[in-house]
Order: sequence, then structure tokens, then C-alpha cells
Amino acid sequence: MKRKSFNPGTLLAPVPPAMVTVGTLEEPNVLTVAWTGILATHPAKAYVSIRPSRHSYGILKEGGEFVINLPSASLARVVDYVGIYTGAKVDKFKVCGITAVKSEKVAPPTVGECPVALECVVTDVMPMGTHDVFIADIVSVSCREELLDEEGKLHFERGDLLAYVHGEYYTLGERVGRFGFSTDKPKGRTGKEVGGARAFAKSSEAVRESKGAGSASAKGEPEGAAEKKKASAKGEPENMVEKKKASAKGEAKGEEKSGRPFYLDAPRKSTKAKPKKDKDKGKRKGKN
Ligand SMILES: Cc1cc2nc3c(=O)[nH]c(=O)nc-3n(C[C@H](O)[C@H](O)[C@H](O)COP(=O)(O)O)c2cc1C
Repeated sequence: MKRKSFNPGTLLAPVPPAMVTVGTLEEPNVLTVAWTGILATHPAKAYVSIRPSRHSYGILKEGGEFVINLPSASLARVVDYVGIYTGAKVDKFKVCGITAVKSEKVAPPTVGECPVALECVVTDVMPMGTHDVFIADIVSVSCREELLDEEGKLHFERGDLLAYVHGEYYTLGERVGRFGFSTDKPKGRTGKEVGGARAFAKSSEAVRESKGAGSASAKGEPEGAAEKKKASAKGEPENMVEKKKASAKGEAKGEEKSGRPFYLDAPRKSTKAKPKKDKDKGKRKGKN
């Protein structure tokens, strides 16, 4: 298998383009943060990595609390907008028509339209070069009720979560497994379960068959879970920000005029990300 190496870069994908809220219910701000993740299960710890130049940075430093709101695909336009415009100049909640809902345990609001939200209290701040990492305890989590079934079981797939890959937004593809499925024991010819190498060979077949189908969804913490297959990632789009400002501005204005809430994109027909022709192929080197 031939491979090519590049200069070091932030090629981790897919990542969640989280809508992070800071401030208070009365005076909230929201920004997009793709450099976010889970650090530990017990105590439940998360982090967000934020540049000191962001308007949100000072608010977070002072308030010490934030909410990681996971957006659904229908919120992609909002996610992009709040990741381009600064709360120092615009009320992003108002412009985007998103709802600040009172959080359970922290001052910053939850974005009502987001299917899942993690409320966090900062415990440590670590300078990390361009960004500062805010490490936090997850003190409460919430989800929209539609994600729960009659038994109260959380169905993440109902959230139609958005993924960020290489400077582009994607929906999640089809489910290709679940946590621990590689250890499932398929039934042999006699109807009895077979384990060991035969079982794994069988599940590996399944992985090969699903190659190219998109990302997998794994339950719980990812240790030992099936690898997720996705394209290489480009960093957060700071270099793209200026470029995109102009067009984003136009769109935002247009939508405000029509009175349509910013987050209401037309419903998508398919949940599968459609491959599209990459006009910039070959031109991208060194862009980020
Ligand atoms: C997809 C995406 C991901 C981003 N990820 C980060 C990030 O991880 N950390 C960060 O500091 N800024 C990130 N940004 C940029 C900020 O969201 C952006 O500068 C925003 O306008 C800051 O808002 P504020 O000035 O109101 O705080 C991202 C932007 C986008 C569109």
C-alpha cells in the first residue's frame, strides 16, 4: 500500500463543529469550535481550544463556563456563520434565529435547536501555542426529547449530527457497526455460535463490504471501537475566514430580509454525503 507524507498538520477528521456558548442567558455569545473533544470518562472531562483573539475568549476566561452544543446537519449554515462573525459586532443568536435556552447547571445558555449539549465548568486553562485549551468538568448533559425513545434510550442517529472534514461540512453516512461488534459470534452451519478467528474474519468481511460507506458510529468511549473511515482534514478555516466573510454576509442579509430563520435549510433528501467534483484539486497545497 503506497502512502504519501505531508508536513505536520492538524489532519484529524471527522471532528464535531461544535457551537460553543459562553456568557449568560441574558448576554450570550456563540462561536464554532472544531478543536474540541473528550479527555476522560471519570470524571467526565471535555476541552475546547480557543484563540485568545476571539471575542468569546475573554468571556469564557471570566465566566469559567461553556456549553458544547452539537449541531445537526440542518444547522450547517448557522455553524458556519457563528464561526465567521464575531459576537463583538453582531448578536449571532438574533441574526441566526437560534434560541438561547436556560442550561441546567451553568450560566451560558444551551442552543435549543441543537440535539445534544454538554454543560462544562472550566478547571484548567493551558496555553497551547496559537490556542488556549480550556479543560472542563462536564457537569450536565441534555438532549432534545425527540432523541429519546419510550424507554428513555438516547438515539443519536435521530440528531442527524454534522461533521467537519477538511474545511467542509458533512452529514454522517450509514452506520457500519456498533461498539463491540467485532466480537460478535456469527452462527456456523450447525446454527451454533462460532468464536475466535472465524468470528473476526466474518466481521472483517463486513468492514470490507462497507468500505466507502462513510463514518461509523460507536457507542460510548472509543477505545477498541471500529475505525472511522473519512478523508484527510484541513485545519480550522482561519485562513478562509476573510474570503468567506463577503459571501456569508450576502447570504445572511438575504435570509434576514426574507424573514426565514437562518437555521431552517430546506430538508435534505438523502443522509448520504454526495461526492462532488473538486475544482480546487491540486491547488490546495499550503493553503492552510
Ligand atoms: C468550522 C469552524 C471551526 C472553528 N474552530 C475553531 C476552534 O476550534 N477554535 C477557535 O478559536 N476558533 C475556531 N473557529 C473560528 C471561530 O469560531 C470564529 O473566529 C468566531 O467568529 C469567533 O467568534 P467570537 O469572536 O464571537 O468569539 C472555527 C470556525 C469554523 C467555521
